[in-house]
Amino acid sequence: MAILPILKYPDPRLRNKAKEVQTVNKKTQSLIDDMFETMIDAKGIGLAATQVDVHKRVIVMDLSEDRSDPRIFINPSIEVLDETTQPYDEGCLSIPGVYETVERPNHVMITATDRNGDIFNEEATGLLAVCIQHEIDHLEGILFIDYLSKLKKSIIIKKLSKLKSNTAIL
Ligand code: NI
Repeated sequence: MAILPILKYPDPRLRNKAKEVQTVNKKTQSLIDDMFETMIDAKGIGLAATQVDVHKRVIVMDLSEDRSDPRIFINPSIEVLDETTQPYDEGCLSIPGVYETVERPNHVMITATDRNGDIFNEEATGLLAVCIQHEIDHLEGILFIDYLSKLKKSIIIKKLSKLKSNTAIL
């Protein structure tokens, strides 16, 4: 297992569109293991392969406090079951220090492939619904700040560039 470097905004590779996984094999499983290790090390609750510069449709997640509920979604898709949206404060390992409210549908059906290559369905509400939509967006090259107003986004970009110029890399 290995901790992989996480791409940080505005890295253009975060805009790549990920490709479908054709077969779940040893390579996929070792990617999944590395992604879990990377996500836990970075104290995240979800991670898309795009964020570690692997442009395949793989997502890992653990929404539990004690890291006891690992979830894997390969080639995930969602169907919105209820168009009602809920506001949620989102952050992202690729945009450290930025938290903003995003509205997303609060009830979706997930279809994905698991670690063994089997397809499954899972109905999702609340945090799971938010997280799967945030991570699927990554696979499409979309970031949560893309949903904010132009003004809000420009303030964040300014704040991030300021942060960068004041940071000493030692
Ligand atoms: Ni993210």
